[in-house]
Amino acid sequence: MTKKTKILATRHYPDAVEQRLTRDYEATLNPEDSYFKTKNLARASVEMGGLLISPREILDARCIDILPSSVRIVGTFSVGTDHIDLEAARQRGLTVTNVRGVLAETCADLAMMLLLTAARRAFEGDQLVRTGTWSGWAPKQLLGIGFQGKRLGILGMGQIGRALARRASAFGLSIHYCNRNRLSPDLEAGATYHSNPDQMLAISDFLSLNCPATPETVGFLNFHRISLLPDRCVIVNVSRGELVDETALSTALIQGKVAAAGLDVFANEPHVHERLRKLTNVFLMPHAGSATLETRIAMGMQILDSFDAFFNGREVPNRIA
Ligand code: DGY
Repeated sequence: MTKKTKILATRHYPDAVEQRLTRDYEATLNPEDSYFKTKNLARASVEMGGLLISPREILDARCIDILPSSVRIVGTFSVGTDHIDLEAARQRGLTVTNVRGVLAETCADLAMMLLLTAARRAFEGDQLVRTGTWSGWAPKQLLGIGFQGKRLGILGMGQIGRALARRASAFGLSIHYCNRNRLSPDLEAGATYHSNPDQMLAISDFLSLNCPATPETVGFLNFHRISLLPDRCVIVNVSRGELVDETALSTALIQGKVAAAGLDVFANEPHVHERLRKLTNVFLMPHAGSATLETRIAMGMQILDSFDAFFNGREVPNRIA
């Protein structure tokens, strides 16, 4: 019998994923679900052939440098790769693979939910009922912002942006987008393209951030860009918190320039800017864009497909380094 390759799973992944992992590999699991800091990761990786990591394990150049040479492939349980220094991985000859194509619809559901919860003041409504302070129906109670005839600007029209566009169109929003490249007419599906993000901001009654964190997008939504938005706009972010200057956003939410926000991601997770936590016109979620059982299983299976391909000498799907 051939010896099974050793794989370290850094987090507690869904049962179906861990069952396949332990069936096909000599897996080290982490039922406590604590995440690994650099030195611990290197220590726990001794003799491992592959690592199944989460976005909380930071694979910077230093970490990659001290990984044991047995480690030949890393699969990240995410579409985002901003926690990995891909250049350092390439230089070391480390194969890296991520997840693609299986989480867009689920993340778009959450973005649509945040548009709705922010625009319709779901947090305040929930609090009113839950605290027993609701005095009954009233004509001007909790007036929100309607979608009909308004414009949604989407920054980043990849799979998640397009899946959100389909949902938002059905709610009566007209779709505008800004992307590095204009999409083909079939992918654009009637949306209006803006090559200049600032021009799109100026007409966005609703704004959704759907692009990855890169040197060009980090800090994108700052005081100046918020000032370009129409008054009382609604902002949603399911991509990366680093895109937003949270001091600028919370100031705009306090002053009413921005009417409401729905946020799933934060600049310094799991710590959330205190002002954002206190504001009642913000609906907060704990980075749960892809968090359905179906999607999380599909994500794990995709990485295991990549491991299988790699260790059997086949081309690795979703290879990014
Ligand atoms: C992703 O897949 O990138 C999610 O945001 C988790 O980090």
